[in-house]
Amino acid sequence: MEKPEYLFKNGKRLDGRKLDEFRKMKIKVDVIDNAEGSAEVEFGKTRVVAAVYGPRELHPKHLVMSDRALLRAHYDMLSFSVEDRKRPGPGRREVEISKVLSEAFRSVVALDRFPRTGIDVFVKVVQADASTRITGLNAASVALAHAGIPMRSMVTGVTFGKIYDDKGKTYMAVDVFKPEDQWGMADVAYAKAWNTGEVVLLQMDGDVTKEEFMEGKKMADKAMEYVYKEQVKALKSVYEVE
Ligand code: CDP
Repeated sequence: MEKPEYLFKNGKRLDGRKLDEFRKMKIKVDVIDNAEGSAEVEFGKTRVVAAVYGPRELHPKHLVMSDRALLRAHYDMLSFSVEDRKRPGPGRREVEISKVLSEAFRSVVALDRFPRTGIDVFVKVVQADASTRITGLNAASVALAHAGIPMRSMVTGVTFGKIYDDKGKTYMAVDVFKPEDQWGMADVAYAKAWNTGEVVLLQMDGDVTKEEFMEGKKMADKAMEYVYKEQVKALKSVYEVE
């Protein structure tokens, strides 16, 4: 796709959304029998499955910590998930995203309750239309809760970005999809621990002013409440008896 003349016109984004509007969201819990906990999250066409294994014996042994568990996130974008086939296996991007996701969860999961063990969180992108790390983080958060692993808080994330109209004026928009990620001036991945308000992930690609950042963040904070409620609703649905 060539760079479009605009990403926003007559109050609408390229997919018809308003600036503060989320894509259609779906959250399913318990999608993988073999896992301790699992979830699948869709933000529009972005679709990610998360599966939690553990606490379990940790390999390699030299990583074992006597006072807590080691939580490792493994982010992966499957070959068929993008337009151009993605080369299988972890590249630099996957290593980076796995690291930031691991760090986001280490601050909220009660790792000290499971000394000498490992908790593995697999995040598999089945279909990518931008914001995959944040969609994955939301899925992983639900999967960890589904696994019954104690957390100080659910973790919830949202992306926001800076897009332009046909006159070159810029706007902040929530839940960035592919054309906006590719052609917009900036995109931000932002996640919070819900109970404490602690920011557990914040990454920015591109440039925004402080004012633009605060405007985007405000929109994202509001959207986050919506995502969080959907996470809780999906979790409750697994345990509710008809
Ligand atoms: O997915 P996320 O926004 O967290 O990370 P990104 O590195 O900013 O990637 C943005 C989007 O670019 C992805 O979600 C994919 O839709 C696309 N992408 C791709 O098509 N091929 C790649 N090898 C990497 C990313």
